[in-house]
Amino acid sequence: MLPSTIAIDGPAASGKSTIGAAVAEKLGYLYFDTGVMYRAVTCVALFRSIPIENENAVTALAENAQIDFLKPTANDGRQYTILADGKDITWDIRSRAVDANVSLVSAYAGVRRAMTQQQRRIGLQGRVVMVGRDIGTVVLPEADLKIYLDASEEERARRRHRERVARGEPVEFEVVRQEIRKRDQIDSSRAVAPLKQADDAIYLDSTGQDVPDVIVRVMQLIDAQRRK
Ligand code: CDP
Repeated sequence: MLPSTIAIDGPAASGKSTIGAAVAEKLGYLYFDTGVMYRAVTCVALFRSIPIENENAVTALAENAQIDFLKPTANDGRQYTILADGKDITWDIRSRAVDANVSLVSAYAGVRRAMTQQQRRIGLQGRVVMVGRDIGTVVLPEADLKIYLDASEEERARRRHRERVARGEPVEFEVVRQEIRKRDQIDSSRAVAPLKQADDAIYLDSTGQDVPDVIVRVMQLIDAQRRK
C-alpha cells in the first residue's frame, strides 16, 4: 500500500526539507517541517528578549505564542509563510541567532510536549511527509515509512554555507561547520527525544548525491512499499 505517513529524520542540513517538500509535492501530500516550529518559538523568544536559559518563560511562550503557518505569501523561494503575532518571520527563523539558540529551546521538555502534541495531531491525519529529528521515534512511531537522511558533516556544512552566502550573509565555512557540529551534538545528546535513527528506519546517505538523485531514491522506497 502507498505509505500515508512518511517520516524523514536526520541531522542539520542533511537535505530533509528540500527532499521532504519535493516528495510531498509528487505525492500530493502535506509537507510538514517540524523544525520550523522550534525555530519560530526561538525567534519569538529572541524578539521579546526572553532569556533563552529561562526554561519556564520559554516553555510558556511555546504553549501560548500565536504562530501561524500559511501557504507562501511571497515568491521569494520560501516553502511557506510563518507569522508570529501577525508579523512575517519566515526568513527571521533562518537567522544565525536562531541557529545558535534553537537546540537549547528544543531540548526543553515542556517545549517538546507542546510541539509534539500539535505535530502528532496533524501527522495522524495521514497523507503527510513530516521532517524533523524525532518523527520516527516519538512523534509518529507508527509511520508507514521512516527514512533517516544523512550526509557527511563536511558536505552538510558546505550546503549550509552555500545557502548563507546565497542569502547575502557572508560567513566562513569553518564557522558554519562548527555551528552545525554543536547543534548536532546538543540534538543527539538531549534527554528528551534525542536525534537518533529509529530501529525500523531506512538509512540514506546523501553524501555526493545531488537533490534529484536523492528524490529518486526516496520515490523508489515509496514504490517498493506500495508493491508490498
Ligand atoms: O534545517 P536544519 O536541518 O538546520 O534544522 P531544522 O530541521 O530546521 O531544525 C532546527 C532545530 O530544531 C534542530 O537543530 C533541533 O534542535 C530542533 N528540532 C527538534 O528538536 N525536533 C524536531 N522534530 C525538529 C527540529
